[in-house]
Amino acid sequence: TVNATQELLLSRIRDVADHPKPGVVFKDITPLLADPVAFTALTDALSEFCVRHGATKIIGLEARGFILAAPVAVRAGIGFIPVRKAGKLPGATLSQAYELEYGSAEIEVHAEDLSAGDRVVVIDDVLATGGTAEASLELIRRAGADVVGVVVLMELGFLGGRARLEPALAGAPLEAL
Ligand code: PRP
Repeated sequence: TVNATQELLLSRIRDVADHPKPGVVFKDITPLLADPVAFTALTDALSEFCVRHGATKIIGLEARGFILAAPVAVRAGIGFIPVRKAGKLPGATLSQAYELEYGSAEIEVHAEDLSAGDRVVVIDDVLATGGTAEASLELIRRAGADVVGVVVLMELGFLGGRARLEPALAGAPLEAL
């Protein structure tokens, strides 16, 4: 069953055919971001997840994850930590490479931003193959911190991201709003 908030969020996500390449249906969240009522409802739901799981740090995954996670960090009063594509962060970093459908990618976090005892929630807009989220969980684990949950706006179930993420979650919840 779909509740009123989910109905609102769904109505503000636009399907764009053949973007970024033929055959792909892109989930465009810009209508949601442009609607303050929907964006606030999303921020509230994400904040509730972070508070419920006792997060002490919130990670957003570049770039759309930044947009969703930053207001949550402010709302919930929890520090925001960026996980960026390789080469962007100026300080000492931990890096994690991961496989894409064609080729590979690498993400990084500032090493000093995470430490033992941190309870981390990861926020992103879309869980697709799960590669990006899986790599972020690996970074958190290598930093000695605990993952207390992953929350995304949308899960593209047919791509199998949930199954790919399961070992790295180690029992922590994955919620798709
Ligand atoms: C998209 C999306 C997720 C990731 C999901 O980001 O925002 O971060 O891909 O895909 P996966 O589950 O298959 O890893 P993208 O790399 O397009 O970056 P952007 O947000 O900077 O546009």
